[in-house]
Amino acid sequence: MEKSKVDVILGLQWGDEGKGKFVDVLTPKYDIIARFQGGPNAGHTLEFNGTKHVLHTIPSGIFHPEKVNLIGNGVLIDAYILMKEISLLREKGVEPSERMKISDKANLILPTHRILDAAMEQSKGAAKIGSTVKGIGPTYTDKAARCGLRVKDILSPNFISKYEKLRAQHIQMLKDMHFDLASHQIENMSVDAYEEAWMAGIEEMRHFEIIQSEYYINDALAKGLKVLAEGAQGSLLDVDFGSYPFVTSSNTTTAGVCSGLGVAPSNIGKVYGVFKAYCTRVGSGPFPTELFDAEGDKLRKEGREFGSTTGRPRRCGWLDLPALYYAIMLDGVTDLIVTKSDVLNTFERIRLCDGYVLGDKKMNVFPSTDEMENIDLSYIDMPGWETSLEGLTSYESLPQALRTYLEFIENKTKKKISIVSTGPDRSQTILR
Ligand code: GDP
Ligand code: IMO
Ligand code: MG
Repeated sequence: MEKSKVDVILGLQWGDEGKGKFVDVLTPKYDIIARFQGGPNAGHTLEFNGTKHVLHTIPSGIFHPEKVNLIGNGVLIDAYILMKEISLLREKGVEPSERMKISDKANLILPTHRILDAAMEQSKGAAKIGSTVKGIGPTYTDKAARCGLRVKDILSPNFISKYEKLRAQHIQMLKDMHFDLASHQIENMSVDAYEEAWMAGIEEMRHFEIIQSEYYINDALAKGLKVLAEGAQGSLLDVDFGSYPFVTSSNTTTAGVCSGLGVAPSNIGKVYGVFKAYCTRVGSGPFPTELFDAEGDKLRKEGREFGSTTGRPRRCGWLDLPALYYAIMLDGVTDLIVTKSDVLNTFERIRLCDGYVLGDKKMNVFPSTDEMENIDLSYIDMPGWETSLEGLTSYESLPQALRTYLEFIENKTKKKISIVSTGPDRSQTILR
């Protein structure tokens, strides 16, 4: 059998583009679905048969029997959150341990990592990142500092002593920061209660196959099996290329697939870049096209733009083409997927930013966080379609104004929009 490559689905904006929906939609074409970075800061929503499901750590292929879901080495796992996700799936009749494997090299988010995340955000005051406070930053910090705990450590007889050693270091750091640990709560639990629940999650993880997933994936590719890598966050939150320091702590771009799964760059196949027909962002940091007016409120209302993980209202604005070009370049996108066009159904006029203006220079280069403050934007206005997309199943049946909008984006990005999403449900999908 011919060797296959890893296809990738990732977000081209600041997260929440609809990655989860499209992993679920495309899963039937694949054998293995693998998360490669991030952790429970992600909230991926799937809808089918009238029910909505939100996943945080578990890959979005989990509802398909016969498919293998993999939590790769680049992912961070909070045992408590994972256990909660597992319980919810069991209530829905899905047994994740039959369909999911976990890399032995994935790092563990300790309860104290979550507290450190909260303490660091608190100490930053107005300059806070707006983190999801799931412990992502501190856990990747420990990974890079080579003192983190990995999934394989839970199989070691010394696990508890390793855990206690790292925990003690964290507690010292919190004391140094004068953090009020005694009254701190995690998920509405005292720290002690949370720790107990987290340990129960560690026990739950032992029921899963813990593997050297880099061998597993490469063997699968050699056998011609099809692998889909599921990104979390968005390209503009990438730790290197995003709007630093207002980013997450991992490489959310295609490069992250290589380090987060152990796959060589030459083994990357298609890259599906998902973007909303407009833009959103949760948390702090630059957002050039952000709207602070009634149109922004309307996008939030029509798009139900509230975070899947934290419930925070998402900031909303128009589509930003230079930011999109930047992400397409970084990710090596081969196919575009546009979501939430239906959210624009009632807009008389749609705008998109086609360049930034710095001084008297128009540029297409994504500005640095400092430059962002001084840029003006150049916008193009296009007529809206002012009609519902309900029940439309082919590209040709879409309103002409929407097709003009999408084809304008295709011409500008020189990439084909292969899939148009017209609603949250699996079935509200137009494949071209
Ligand atoms: P992810 O993090 O990229 O998986 O995206 P989220 O799940 O956080 O946010 C996307 C939201 O948009 C979810 O509530 C989806 O159900 C919803 N959604 C996805 N595609 C569409 C679409 O085409 N139209 C509408 N109206 N909602 C969509
Ligand atoms: P999905 O996978 C949107 C944002 C946070 C914050 C910044 C850093 O659902 O698209 P972190 O907790 O990672 O330290 O937060 O990144 N952020 C996301 N925004 N969608 C996400 O994931 C996000 N994950 C993190 O709001 O601004
Ligand atoms: Mg999300």
